[in-house]
Amino acid sequence: MKTILVTGGAGYIGSHVCKALAAHGLFPVTVDSLENGRRETVKWGPLEVGHLNDTRFLHQTFNKYPTSAVIHLAGYMSVEESVGNPARYYMNNVDGTLHLLEAMRKYNVGRIVFSSSAAVYGMPARCPIRETDMLAPINPYGWCKRIIEAVLNDYDRAYGIHSVSLRYFNAAGADPDGEIGECHSPETHLIPTILDVACGRKKVFRIFGTDYETPDGTCIRDFVHVSDLASAHVLALESIEKSNRSDCFNLGNGRGFSVKEVVKAACHITGVEIPIQEADKRPGDPATLVCDPVRAKEVLCWKPKYEKLEQQVAHAWQWAQRHT
Ligand code: UFG
Repeated sequence: MKTILVTGGAGYIGSHVCKALAAHGLFPVTVDSLENGRRETVKWGPLEVGHLNDTRFLHQTFNKYPTSAVIHLAGYMSVEESVGNPARYYMNNVDGTLHLLEAMRKYNVGRIVFSSSAAVYGMPARCPIRETDMLAPINPYGWCKRIIEAVLNDYDRAYGIHSVSLRYFNAAGADPDGEIGECHSPETHLIPTILDVACGRKKVFRIFGTDYETPDGTCIRDFVHVSDLASAHVLALESIEKSNRSDCFNLGNGRGFSVKEVVKAACHITGVEIPIQEADKRPGDPATLVCDPVRAKEVLCWKPKYEKLEQQVAHAWQWAQRHT
């Protein structure tokens, strides 16, 4: 059984990736600092707790588990925090990745799938966004992703480490079997925040900005089910093995929903009339982010199963109700 090291495997997306790997007969070893990840989500293989900038820890881990490939999701993820404290982001996200790549070189691990983001596009000039569109991040979080993609390309040219960068749009939903789901603390993402109100954990849902240049004035996002994101990682690994080259792919459904449309879907699914409050814009939010996922479908043969927003919200709701 091939061993895949999954950094950030105790996180929301990482835990779904581990489940998908195990379902494909692969052995996921989670590497996570548990600063944001949760021990109880690591169910499909062992957990090694440590930081990526800790070379000794990485060497011990690669020694313990002869590794075929790495899936690298670990990293801080708050756009807002990255603006206030860029050092924390560059030190952890970029420096941590460099340490990981150096350990891969030492242990001759030649394949990596990297968790990138739509944040690499910044304020896109057009939607749907293609992989070849301009990369112009507007915050340190996005710059970390952009820089790491550039580093990965250089490591391929110089050292033959092949990579696939997966640029996620808005991850949504939860494991349809109800085994794992989204649990951030504090929660800032749209769907879980709306569901926190539906559950009574929060009193009111605040819409950040109602005068964007969109049909109903609220931001538009492209939501992609977390289990579909997870399956794309397995396909990305297979693709590197077959093609022996590096690449990058957008992961989204190619359809945008406004914040108000998401609230409406959540009211419908939960049966709760969710109280809303109009609030100021959140700095740095692009009006519309919708991707063109054609390359992932054509090249990786990615077939998302849960494209409907209602399904994504329903799975998130199933999870939120069990974890009040
Ligand atoms: N929103 C609200 N109220 C809330 C939470 C969110 O109105 O309480 C709005 C936001 O202003 C935004 C939309 O809902 O317009 C989506 O917000 P999220 O925080 O859920 O997601 P983002 O689009 O801001 O962020 C996501 C990922 C980031 C990534 C970014 C850009 O979570 O990691 O996409 O790709 F950087």
